[in-house]
Amino acid sequence: MIRKWSFSPYIDTKAVVRKIESESALLPYFSHQDGKYTYRMNERTRVYGLGEQIRGINKRGWVYESYCADDPIHTEEKRSLYGAHNFILVDAGKDERFLAFFDYPAKIRFDIGYTDSDIIQVTPENDRLDLYLIEGGTLKEIIREFRSLIGRSYLPPFFAFGYGQSRWGYVKEEDIREAVSKHREAGIPLDTVYLDIDYMEDFQDFTVNKVRFPDLKALSAELKEQGIRLIPIIDAAVKVREGYSVYDEGKEKGYFCKDENGEEFVTAVWPGRSVLPDFLNEDASRWFGNQYQTLTDMGIEGFWNDMNEPALFYSDKGLKTAFEKIKTFEGKNLEVYDYFNARNVFPSLSNSKEDYTAFYHRTPEGVFNHNDVHNLYGFNMTRSASEALQRIRGQRFLLFSRASYIGAHRYGGVWTGDNHAWWSHILQSIRQMPSLNMCGFLYTGSDIGGFGGDCTRDLLLRWLSFAIFTPLMRNHSAVGTRRQEAYSFGDTEDFRDIITLRYRLLPYLYSEFMKAALKNDLYFSPLSFVYEDDEIAAEVEDQLMVGEALMIAPVYTQNVSGRMVYLPEEMTMVRMHKGEISIEELKQGHHYIHIPLSDVVFFIRKGFAIPLCDPADCTDKLDYATIQLIGTSDSYELYRDDGVSLKASLENVRIISNSRERS
Ligand code: GLC
Repeated sequence: MIRKWSFSPYIDTKAVVRKIESESALLPYFSHQDGKYTYRMNERTRVYGLGEQIRGINKRGWVYESYCADDPIHTEEKRSLYGAHNFILVDAGKDERFLAFFDYPAKIRFDIGYTDSDIIQVTPENDRLDLYLIEGGTLKEIIREFRSLIGRSYLPPFFAFGYGQSRWGYVKEEDIREAVSKHREAGIPLDTVYLDIDYMEDFQDFTVNKVRFPDLKALSAELKEQGIRLIPIIDAAVKVREGYSVYDEGKEKGYFCKDENGEEFVTAVWPGRSVLPDFLNEDASRWFGNQYQTLTDMGIEGFWNDMNEPALFYSDKGLKTAFEKIKTFEGKNLEVYDYFNARNVFPSLSNSKEDYTAFYHRTPEGVFNHNDVHNLYGFNMTRSASEALQRIRGQRFLLFSRASYIGAHRYGGVWTGDNHAWWSHILQSIRQMPSLNMCGFLYTGSDIGGFGGDCTRDLLLRWLSFAIFTPLMRNHSAVGTRRQEAYSFGDTEDFRDIITLRYRLLPYLYSEFMKAALKNDLYFSPLSFVYEDDEIAAEVEDQLMVGEALMIAPVYTQNVSGRMVYLPEEMTMVRMHKGEISIEELKQGHHYIHIPLSDVVFFIRKGFAIPLCDPADCTDKLDYATIQLIGTSDSYELYRDDGVSLKASLENVRIISNSRERS
């Protein structure tokens, strides 16, 4: 029997909810035995889904786990990243297509043809889950229905589509001013600069270091004059320090997670010893959300929420045990396995199962051990911030998170966390985008140039050439790595031309984003979702459709000056070279396309056109009056609004053409 367990607020209450309440309704898809849900695939079955994960768009051939993980090494053998997106879209041919959503907030395993290459087996830790099945129709129709179930995607403000510069290590306001002026001097457009943990006083949330950032309000106003918004980070954990008002108040009100003895559970993250706000407790969540006002009062219009899996470096208890354990090795002749065990004592302290089972949440449904609701923590932090910002600002705000669960897309976007300056991570990002879109995370992107490791000029150019199409377009890197701002590699022209193209494309990108959000559609889709009968397109995983009219085929290998591209139909190839746009019609089929580092190439579907406007150095200055259409249609359905109102509707769509505007 499948029990309904409706604790987490992931379901949009306005949506029509169709739950399966009896086991027989699972047939003919799954059999349910010993707590496992089993499905047999045929030879050509393709499995989409799982949102933010490693590997391909087709998930077949690996085993994945949903257990939000703070893991900065995103390699192929991993099983979890930061998000828990428990859905699979199974395509076994036209007669058998369905989506299964396992609404379950603890650890759940998706074996998709790993143990047995023809079997999908889904294994939750216990049976407290809700299962939703959506069947029939095209892949896009199934996704639309799923999205109407889980609710409408978050709508960012227009400026959030501009280019953002970020770096862990901008420690003082001069660093921020320098980043801005160097972009402006090189003519590289820029809309946002991110403040990483360095702006805080001792890494305490909602504080500003007064020596290094003496007047954040004035800085924010000064930059806004230049069309730039500052976007600070907020971490989940709160520093234990008497006299720090957020700690004092949260403690007094009992808003932090407690251990089994009712004492605050003390862990350590960036600020050292810290406590975790209980975002699953409605009062605590509202209280934490209200704290954002400290920064919105300084003119801040957006935030990124981090470390909310939650990431735990070590706990008081764990550290004590580790020191005891390490002492047992002292003076011993360490055989090789002893050495490995000794070496692992401290690294294994982070994000440990012992810690995740050592604290509790006070929810409206009662008290829950963290491990049983682990995947809801980041979701609820984003909800807390989003609801508060809506209350405080009454306008759209920029917000994205690292950890997430299905439904968090209603409150903010996500970025894909601590990737690396690896060529394989451009490809990984290409593949993550449509899977994230399927479960509603439309506002998403990865750290351009890679967060960890040293970036090179060619890597950054290629990454940017892809990322000009991602709604969140942010260059971010870790402290200690090689500088990778677009002006850091000597000449800046190629960087300027590519980022400028992003701004010229914004009327299209924003319009397609908003239409996708309002219609529960995909912004990025795999080719197979558009060309359903094309068996070649079905296997293409390094090209994507962007909105209705565009296809992209990014270059993601080093030392090549082009790549093979598959055109499922006749298309217009658009090339940007040194800021100039040229077009060429290409036939259906495979083509080798020459794409030097300085060029960006993309494709417009036959019978479609896209709007391009004149360049601008920030979104505030984009001039829609300069729009020209290119492609093989003389009209385009343009969505346009003021970019800030919470209310958005398809009534803002109008048909435009090159000759004149139509209504
Ligand atoms: C985490 C974030 C990263 C950030 C760093 C310091 O690793 O994922 O983006 O720069 O913390 O705040």
